[in-house]
Amino acid sequence: MDHISKDLNRWIPNLLAVWRRHRRHKEGPSDRLLQHELKEVVTGVKTLSAGLTGKRQLVGKGYMDDAALLGAYLLFYWPVSYAQARYALGYLPAKPRSALDLGSGPAPMSFASLDHGASGVTAADRSDLALKLATELAGEAGEPLAVRRWDPLKGNKLPDGRFDLIIMGHLLNELWGGDENEHGKISDLIENAFGSLSKGGAVVVIEPALLLTSRRLLKVRDILVEKGFPILAPCLFKGSCPALKKEGNTCHTDRSWEPPKMIREIAKAAGIHKDALKMSFLIIAPKGAKWPELPEGRIFRIVSEILESNKRRRLVGCGPEGRIGLSIQEKDLTEENMVFLRLQRGDVIKITGAEERESGIALTEKSRISIVTNSGRPLPEPWEWKR
Ligand SMILES: C[S@@+](CC[C@H](N)C(=O)[O-])C[C@H]1O[C@@H](n2cnc3c(N)ncnc32)[C@H](O)[C@@H]1O
Repeated sequence: MDHISKDLNRWIPNLLAVWRRHRRHKEGPSDRLLQHELKEVVTGVKTLSAGLTGKRQLVGKGYMDDAALLGAYLLFYWPVSYAQARYALGYLPAKPRSALDLGSGPAPMSFASLDHGASGVTAADRSDLALKLATELAGEAGEPLAVRRWDPLKGNKLPDGRFDLIIMGHLLNELWGGDENEHGKISDLIENAFGSLSKGGAVVVIEPALLLTSRRLLKVRDILVEKGFPILAPCLFKGSCPALKKEGNTCHTDRSWEPPKMIREIAKAAGIHKDALKMSFLIIAPKGAKWPELPEGRIFRIVSEILESNKRRRLVGCGPEGRIGLSIQEKDLTEENMVFLRLQRGDVIKITGAEERESGIALTEKSRISIVTNSGRPLPEPWEWKR
């Protein structure tokens, strides 16, 4: 179990204690829900899941002010958001001391920031009920947390203070949906947030990995890049996002994780898959800062699953030269390039000795692949070359 999963498991008793008080249940086990409790949470999770995906009727609505839905969010989506934030924060060049969590809900991103090393966090949201639960969680865990009511749609200014990190978790897709200038308004909100950032700080945005929300984030990214804001992660390409050139293309991250037992039980009962942590994220540096230095050579981040076609195995990579198809045939596999079959979304690789093709680049028996970073996670078992 990795350190993020271990830290998350330590939150489960706190989440359960706060949820039981909030829903007026008697005390119970600290690591799991009782049957009648599970039934209640699953009903809420199903409503949230249906309302936040598909036609997305709940998006931008006051679901956090509905006690049962907020409770379901706390026990199911909170741990997912916490883990997503911990993985994304791992890309920050320095540990933040102070953080501002915008659209915090019951503050999973705030507590992830504290566990990542921050010593003080302000959580801001328009839902008083969500902020109340965040405060109760902080009390339960003995963690410092300030909360502020904030709503950018009402023209509210950001909470006072200077922060090393401003994090926005699954907030932006709830703002200005359908507005003719939605991308401009969101990029203005992010640009404005830089005014509350200390020197060397960064803005972290995490969004759902849905096609619609991911592409919306990429459009916002392009506006910010155009204005001179470098992307610290995950982009290695400094121009306009190549995924946006084709309808239906997107870019998201997919991390395998070990969900806590309680999450597995809720997911199973609700019929929802949560075996992978999918998200779209950006780590944005202040205007004029430098893009991260990359090693020399042909560097790519893997931005697809492995695809099988006839004799080839394909991946899509995105790097300084753009978004490019990478492929290999079984006959060309060698010790030096075998790792191709084990690459996963998010890995950064260096390729030498590849050949140009119309459809991208082909690895040959002379090609070598080295892993620049796979964020420290173990590679999966080699794939069988299925015929
Ligand atoms: C999907 S939840 C995300 C909560 C938490 N950040 C997370 O990542 O799990 C979206 C949050 O955005 C907040 N939100 C939506 N519209 C808002 C607005 N206009 N002003 C402030 N917060 C808003 C909601 O209250 C809710 O807490």
